[in-house]
Amino acid sequence: MLSKIEALLARIEGFNSTNPAEIEDFRVKILGRKGELNDILEDFKKVAPEQKRELGQKINLVKTAATSRINTLKEMAAEAAQAPAAAIGDMTRPGSEDGIGSRHPISLVRREIVDIFSRLGYTVAEGPEMEDDWHVFSALNFPPEHPARDMQDTFFIEKNPDILLRTHTSSIQVRTMEHQKPPIRVICPGRVFRNEAISYRAHCIFHQIEGLYIDEGVSFADLKQSLLYFAKELFGESAKIRMRPSYFPFTEPSAEVDVSCNLCGGKGCNVCKGTGWLEIMGCGMVDPNVLESNGIDSTKYSGFAFGMGVERIAMLKFGVKDLRLYFENDVRFLHQFDSVL
Ligand code: DAH
Repeated sequence: MLSKIEALLARIEGFNSTNPAEIEDFRVKILGRKGELNDILEDFKKVAPEQKRELGQKINLVKTAATSRINTLKEMAAEAAQAPAAAIGDMTRPGSEDGIGSRHPISLVRREIVDIFSRLGYTVAEGPEMEDDWHVFSALNFPPEHPARDMQDTFFIEKNPDILLRTHTSSIQVRTMEHQKPPIRVICPGRVFRNEAISYRAHCIFHQIEGLYIDEGVSFADLKQSLLYFAKELFGESAKIRMRPSYFPFTEPSAEVDVSCNLCGGKGCNVCKGTGWLEIMGCGMVDPNVLESNGIDSTKYSGFAFGMGVERIAMLKFGVKDLRLYFENDVRFLHQFDSVL
């Protein structure tokens, strides 16, 4: 009988649960009218008188141990049930508002530029960031010794055959000509990569937007008029443009486009370095070699192309002096664009 009492005591001390129903079951099993303790008390009646004292004390011990264990577990279960509510706090308090995020200034400007050209009938085209030599250089009439192919400018992934990160979005021109027949009118936004030292005016990853228009009878006058429309939409009705002769392997003739400085209105300030003009893009008439390399008859079709840096335009539009701010994602910088567009 002693071993039966001790086994019961051990089970009581080992019992653990925070489930109120389980605790109640346990209480009934041990302390209930038909419980194990009553069984023991039945046996106790038959015990020899000289053993009654010692066994009686043990039985009392089991009873108090069971009662106190069950009460403690019941309290713990009640506390556990309360805990989630305590963590939530005052359920009647009004909820806190979720702050609405803002678009990144580079996305804002990219969208605005793409929107302006969609109003002129351009559709968006995209291409891979990882490219081959053909799409980035060869099909765009870059001679084999051109310095842009150099390790200093280009991030190569593999040599021979060359696999590289595109250094400009002009590669999307090539991809478009491969799949579309003229008339072609595409605007191509994308990330580009160049092995440049990071400074206030340069980064090794940046964004460009390329434009391409090919049809019968496209002229330089069409290019100039389209870009003037673009400048006025982006910088305001009073914006003017000027074109300076330049060189790109894939266009002939080529030009660099300046827009009148929107900060000083053309009078000259430190942003436009006293000139009243800001350079915003390169452009030109698509070189007949490029059309032919991509299977387009250059005696029938002509076209123009242009390419601009999104960071540069965003800097001019928002008066940002350090390009690195666009990549640091400091929310104090980003929140200043909450209300734009
Ligand atoms: N791809 C040139 C660059 O990265 C920009 C450019 C210039 C694109 C003239 C053009 C263009 O389409 O016609 O500097």
